[in-house]
Amino acid sequence: MGLNPVGDTHKKVTLQGKMAKKALITGITGQDGAYLANLLLSKGYEVFGTYRRASSTNFWRLDELGITEAVQRVCMELTDDVNIREVIEQVQPDEVYNLAAQSFVGASFKQPIYTGNLDGLSVTRLLSAIHAINAKIRFYQASTSEMFGKVQSIPQTEETAFYPRSPYGVAKLYGHWITINFRESYDMFSCSGILFNHESPLRGEEFVTRKITQAFARLVTGQGGAVELGNLDAKRDWGFAGDYVEGIWLMLQQPEAKDYVMSTGVTHTVRYFAELAAQFLGYELVWKGQGLEETGIDRKTGQVWVKINPNFYRPAEVDLLIGDSSKARAEMNWNPKCKIESLVEMMVKADLRRAQNHSMAAQSAKVA
Ligand code: NAP
Ligand code: GDD
Repeated sequence: MGLNPVGDTHKKVTLQGKMAKKALITGITGQDGAYLANLLLSKGYEVFGTYRRASSTNFWRLDELGITEAVQRVCMELTDDVNIREVIEQVQPDEVYNLAAQSFVGASFKQPIYTGNLDGLSVTRLLSAIHAINAKIRFYQASTSEMFGKVQSIPQTEETAFYPRSPYGVAKLYGHWITINFRESYDMFSCSGILFNHESPLRGEEFVTRKITQAFARLVTGQGGAVELGNLDAKRDWGFAGDYVEGIWLMLQQPEAKDYVMSTGVTHTVRYFAELAAQFLGYELVWKGQGLEETGIDRKTGQVWVKINPNFYRPAEVDLLIGDSSKARAEMNWNPKCKIESLVEMMVKADLRRAQNHSMAAQSAKVA
């Protein structure tokens, strides 16, 4: 198995003598792509994962899960209709999971057109290709709690009115509605998971949770200084990505295509996340000053761990997200198990291990 061109696309037979289902996951190099691929492989699927062309593609997440060779990796650019059609035609999947996106809210303010094209219009490109090639293919769209933006009710459910606050949220809302529109127009099994923030040791480094755990791990191993953050008071409903990909898979196994909110139902501030991360490293973070002058310091030594940098504030902020996933829990028996404490501990431990390995490698290089 390996990289393009797509190899043998005939259905494989599972150990139980059944035809293995074929799944096509867009965004296989991302956090959710890696966890979902791992889950589907464990269920006996044949997994095709798309990545975009780059001068050097990085499969580090698949490597960490030990599944790089088990996934059939296919080069596909989501802004290119021709490429999309060719890949779907070749792979003939049973299920398509559209996870690829420009997923960083902050960047969407700087690249609104690109974000709109990729996160919005590409959903139509995929759905049109599926409609033309085989309308029976089941389709999952990665919608987001960011669509609730300036929240119109608390907690947010499938019925809550949307009010996106970023070009990313606006683009994703287009993707959300076009998914519903294909379902209603052509009776396709296309549905959206409205997922609240989910994190893991495989989270991208620019998202606030991983930015904190990575910076603190470097700080305590003597490899870095204070981390610069923006709005410490933003509240998010943070869960573990491993739990959320279970829900994503469950959605495509239902008798009827429906949209579901997935969330933990508990919300915390960025400030609290930082305190917990310090705590798992054996330190106590306390806060001094206000506004741009605020710092987070280690109570014992007075060392500064967190500073404020206004560049990390957003032009329009989403202050509070907290989801109610009763529908997913009741209808799909979906149940996120990981609590915030275990999530932070898992992320801190992984980043500490990486920082220690990095430090040892640097020392061996010096000796050599
Ligand atoms: P991620 O780690 O940022 O992964 C995004 C993936 O999209 C990467 O594989 C990326 O490839 C790929 N991609 C970006 N631009 C592309 C292009 N032009 N053509 C093809 N592929 C492209 O995101 P994630 O956290 O796994 O999230 C997965 C999906 O769920 C995203 O759609 C995100 O918006 C949505 N979502 C995420 C969360 C969350 O909290 N994680 C919550 C709700 C919704 P490269 O590696 O080459 O950049
Ligand atoms: N990234 C980042 N960096 N965020 C910061 C920082 C910082 O230095 N300081 C404070 N924050 C605040 C942001 O302003 C935001 O309110 C909150 O921390 C979370 O930011 P992110 O971790 O970047 O995530 P997000 O909530 O904007 O977006 C994530 O979740 C969405 C679901 O709600 C992404 O995964 C999106 O793709 C996803 O749709």
